[in-house]
Amino acid sequence: MVIATACEDPCEQLQSTFASRYVRDPLPKFKLPEKSIPKDAAYQVIHDELMLDGAPRLNLASFVTTWMEPECDKLIMDSLNKNYVDMDEYPVTTDLQNRCVNIIAHLFHAPVGAEETAVGVGTVGSSEAITLAGLAFKRKWQNKRKLEGKPYDKPNIVTGANVQVCWEKFANYFEVELKEVKLTEDCLVMDPVKAAEMVDENTICVAAILGSTMTGEFEDVKLLNELLTKKNKETGWDTPIHVDAASGGFIAPFIYPELEWDFLLPLVKSINVSGHKYGLVYPGVGWVVWRNKDELPDELIFHINYLGSDQPTFTLNFSKGSSQIIAQYYQFLRLGFEGYKNIMDNCWASARVLREGIEKTGRFNIHSKDIGVPLVAFSLKDSSKHTVFEISDQLRKYGWIVPAYTLPPDVEHIAILRVVIREDFSRSLADRLVADIDTVVKLLDTLPSPLSSSSKVTLVTTNEKGEMLKKRAAEVLPEIAIYWKRLKDGKRTGAC
Ligand SMILES: Cc1ncc(COP(=O)(O)O)c(C=O)c1O
Repeated sequence: MVIATACEDPCEQLQSTFASRYVRDPLPKFKLPEKSIPKDAAYQVIHDELMLDGAPRLNLASFVTTWMEPECDKLIMDSLNKNYVDMDEYPVTTDLQNRCVNIIAHLFHAPVGAEETAVGVGTVGSSEAITLAGLAFKRKWQNKRKLEGKPYDKPNIVTGANVQVCWEKFANYFEVELKEVKLTEDCLVMDPVKAAEMVDENTICVAAILGSTMTGEFEDVKLLNELLTKKNKETGWDTPIHVDAASGGFIAPFIYPELEWDFLLPLVKSINVSGHKYGLVYPGVGWVVWRNKDELPDELIFHINYLGSDQPTFTLNFSKGSSQIIAQYYQFLRLGFEGYKNIMDNCWASARVLREGIEKTGRFNIHSKDIGVPLVAFSLKDSSKHTVFEISDQLRKYGWIVPAYTLPPDVEHIAILRVVIREDFSRSLADRLVADIDTVVKLLDTLPSPLSSSSKVTLVTTNEKGEMLKKRAAEVLPEIAIYWKRLKDGKRTGAC
């Protein structure tokens, strides 16, 4: 490997903008290079490679914030070198986190007295927040069962089959059975009646989602609270509710203030929300808040003193950056209730423009609702010739990243496209996207169908019992497409 030796002129070294001027041979990718390279060469090599990533603002697959104001970018840069865990050294940063926890707890109507502080913690995202909430439920349930002299080795959680993968991770890593309510064509979220029926004495909590990842629809937490209250009375259990408000937690309080979903409902004991989704902060921040300190078993809280003073911690990681917490506080201070409400209203206005445009093409069924997370989830009315996966691939050529995925059990046969509307997705972009979707479906009309073009070919396949079956390729291909998509994207597809 030859590095930087060809650039004799130091001025050219400084002003050169292209890495090829410094680097003549490929740099090792998987082993530490033996020699150092100039800083601007390192920058340029990495910068150039990253140009091949998609453009974050055209990434319509993600709920996660892709734009913040330059003033906040500056605060983030200013605090990049602060380790959040050094609370004694950075007491102001700690104070900002506490303010954020309290702001969120009040927004979610936690019963916090005038002299009290709310119980909650900043996390890396909703996944960590959900893990902590799940651990608190599990430990509380186990402690109660031990006191009653009952077995405590088979805890379960009841959810809809539409839960985000982090719930499956929690269940798997922390040995809790996940009992999923299957979806139906008429109900693409957890049906509270079925959920309440599934609850048994080993249920540590029922998790309701405020903003299903798949379709943005809010689950009916109020009805769930009513049904569980009745069941708890009949059985003597006290099954609680956790609300996974990863996306909806920063939407509902601002634009659906009448909706009852939070700590106003007595069985809701904890709520998570992603700061980096509609909390409007770049990736790396989530929150979990508990109704009060009785819901968080004390033995889960670790006390350390080697950083200066007694420091209670309840997180999975020790060190982490401070910038995202500071950025969250910036958004609260800068936007206030009014600012968040305006942004959420605006996102919904763009979602409606997009929805109407997509409906006008006449080709799609819309699966998202008028109330929920501002997104449009839609499937092809006729997918006998072309699929949503082809539409997703074609849209990529225009720069759009629109995920296509199959819905969870028992509606795996429905494959949808989902466009998430964030603050930086303007009305004019919505118009352009509609025009591009229209162009793509018309283009696909002119192309041979990958399903029918090989319809004369017969393939041999096996059924569940391992028996050989002959099927036309047209029949097998959609099955392969679904199988391949699952393999490629993991069990839950397109859901982040
Ligand atoms: C409903 C729901 N819960 C949890 C998560 C995980 O959130 P995070 O990415 O903040 O860990 C997501 C992510 O999209 C989600 O939609």
